[in-house]
Amino acid sequence: MNDVVNYVIDGNIGVITVNSPPVNALSQAVRQGLLDAIRAAASDDTEAMVIHCEGRTFIAGADIKEFGKPHAEPLLPDLLNEVEASEKIIVAALHGTALGGGFETALSCHYRIALDSAKVGLPEVKLGLLPGAGGTQRVPRLAGVEASLELILSGAPIAAGRAAEIGLVDKVVSTDLLAEALAYARQLAKTRAPVRRTSELTVENVDDSVFDNVSAGLGKRARGQTAPPRIVECVRSAMTMSFEDGQKRERELFSECMQDPQSVALRHMFFAERVAAKVAGLSDDVPIRDVKSVGIIGGGTMGGGIAMSFANAGISVTLVEINNKALRRGLTIIDQNYAGSVKRGKLSESKAADCRGLISGATDYSALGDVDLVIEAVFEDPELKKDIFARLDKACKPGAILATNTSYQDVNEIAAATMRPQDVLGMHFFSPAHIMKLLEVVRADKTADDVLNTVMALSKRIRKVAVVSGVCYGFIGNRMLQGYFREAQLCLIEGGSPESVDAALYDWGMAMGPISVGDLAGLDVGYKARQAQPEEERGDPAAYRVPDVLVEAGRLGQKSGKGFYTYDADTRARTSDPDVQAIIEREAAALGIERSPIDAEEIVDRLIYALVNEGMRILEEGIAQRPGDIDVVYVYGYGFPAWRGGPMHYADAVGLGNVLSRIEEFRNRFGDDNWAPAPLLEKLVREGRTLAEWTER
Ligand code: 3HC
Ligand code: NAI
Repeated sequence: MNDVVNYVIDGNIGVITVNSPPVNALSQAVRQGLLDAIRAAASDDTEAMVIHCEGRTFIAGADIKEFGKPHAEPLLPDLLNEVEASEKIIVAALHGTALGGGFETALSCHYRIALDSAKVGLPEVKLGLLPGAGGTQRVPRLAGVEASLELILSGAPIAAGRAAEIGLVDKVVSTDLLAEALAYARQLAKTRAPVRRTSELTVENVDDSVFDNVSAGLGKRARGQTAPPRIVECVRSAMTMSFEDGQKRERELFSECMQDPQSVALRHMFFAERVAAKVAGLSDDVPIRDVKSVGIIGGGTMGGGIAMSFANAGISVTLVEINNKALRRGLTIIDQNYAGSVKRGKLSESKAADCRGLISGATDYSALGDVDLVIEAVFEDPELKKDIFARLDKACKPGAILATNTSYQDVNEIAAATMRPQDVLGMHFFSPAHIMKLLEVVRADKTADDVLNTVMALSKRIRKVAVVSGVCYGFIGNRMLQGYFREAQLCLIEGGSPESVDAALYDWGMAMGPISVGDLAGLDVGYKARQAQPEEERGDPAAYRVPDVLVEAGRLGQKSGKGFYTYDADTRARTSDPDVQAIIEREAAALGIERSPIDAEEIVDRLIYALVNEGMRILEEGIAQRPGDIDVVYVYGYGFPAWRGGPMHYADAVGLGNVLSRIEEFRNRFGDDNWAPAPLLEKLVREGRTLAEWTER
């Protein structure tokens, strides 16, 4: 038919093959090829058709690269209506991931056969969209309202077996998909099976309360997001309207989603995440070192979670602690975490046992003689870290990669403690390390290309989203966070309360407010760091007086039951504490600050623009490769709402001119120290360019 869709006749069956790597997305060429093939088959001697795909997967959805561009015919809903209207039976043969428009293509066919390893789903919600090619109308007709709402609102793919259980797939096979699909099509033709058109079915009625309950739950499940309520409306339409009218409504709401800034942001995130995995300037032929076993030094909060990340990917781990007692403590926490995963149904008992079996313990560095990678996760003490790296240099085999999980320390200095700085880099995980997706990979001055390449590839194996950072204090994420936390404290002491500052950011979309984050991480961490500094280097006392007083009063945060809030010992539920408000007011008075209320908009602008301004400096200095990398760091590591696209995309969306004006307003009010605009921001505004345009330079 064309370069990406082939049509051949096999006996009495027309075989339509899509071959458009990497994921057979429904580009204009694929749509056109499918249409031409269906039309050709309509007028030849075949009795039925099979649609299947070459490569790793059945069609994985609409071509996201075409979104935002002018529509090119044939449009997908029209194509799929024509597929369904075919007088000859069409069988879809599914393998890999039949997602979004790809699964909608299968739903418009009359029968569906799938490999048992296949997954099907409608992930559009993750792009701020809804299934726009009949998915919201056809799934309820096959699987009922409740299963449809779950599938479409979660966006999570389901296994072929489960899809068969709920009526979305007719037959599941374990091998020879194409041969099985051909045999199935022949049998259907021979038995004169009906041409089953899903649009001709009706949706079983459910009580209105089903929709009301789901809508009520969206406040929590999809806070701030605009696509989910539209999905609920579409599914309701499938029940209350004809197929034609329901599909019309689906089209209207799909267009609204497509125009919505949330979808623009989520589509940006989709590509940013994938681009972040690529290291600029690193050629494809840089080799990858083999990593079969890993050593981890320090089995505390981070070391334990890192060990689990590797074991969960089938990689064996040796955990080294300072003595047997510390080792036992670390391994016990790992045991408890696995038991928790089993209890919550996240892992089967046998899988948990297999993973746990890959982790062994030691108290001597000689146990690391043969490992391919070591990750150091001991206390944040630069001298201790350098000492450990000097010892690793002696204990590890040549070619082993040596990584530090440090949050702030200079990776160049740590590398210099060894005779092999080319093998050293940072692997900065986030807590809890077995759950959080982000991994900052810190490229030191002498890190070898193949070491970097190996760790980027490894991050995929352990299911992390990796972002490369240069060396600086705090790397990308924690460096930016300093201004964000500073403004949180300043807003608090100048007129806010823990509740008002937290609510402003939470309501804006952050997973947690900044004050609660401080309580969770422990207020003593920052306190100790400040104590280690001479007073004149600590900055404006207004930005740290209150947490200092709290720590000195034994209020360390959640771990001591009290911090900015008071926490219930059993449930960890937080309550406001009038004592804290009194401390804030007292300290404000002592510093001569006249408190006056600050509205939520100002709180958000001060915190978020502090991130943006520092992000601009990080880009200028080349610490981050691209603005999208910073967005990935914030969405995957710091609870930034994905539907706002990360701080840098958000700045573009608000308009860099508007961001700069607000920063200049803050500079006029608060001074140059905190609010000098980043030169890159000023330059882009002067040139009338966006960050996205700057990236394409
Ligand atoms: N459109 C365009 N490009 C796509 C794409 C799509 N739908 N899906 C994946 N790609 C590209 C990726 O950008 C990547 O490109 P790169 O190599 O240049 O970076 C390449 O394909 C491989 O993708 P992954 O690295 O993600 O490969 P994986 O094997 O890890 O995952 C996948 C494969 C599960 C298919 C995953 O890519 C995925 O989830 N894709 C998106 C699926 C999706 O959201 N579909 C719905 C689209 S919206 C829609 O269909 C609207 C309709 O209802 C009208
Ligand atoms: P932790 O205090 O929970 O654990 C440190 C562990 O290292 C302890 O169990 C200790 O016994 C062990 N240890 C100390 N010296 C050792 C030695 N010489 N040999 C072997 N083991 C030794 O600390 P945590 O929180 O796990 O932090 C570890 C590192 O990870 C630090 O550099 C920290 O900055 C960084 N980090 C911490 C994050 C967090 O949220 N806690 C997030 C990201 C990075």
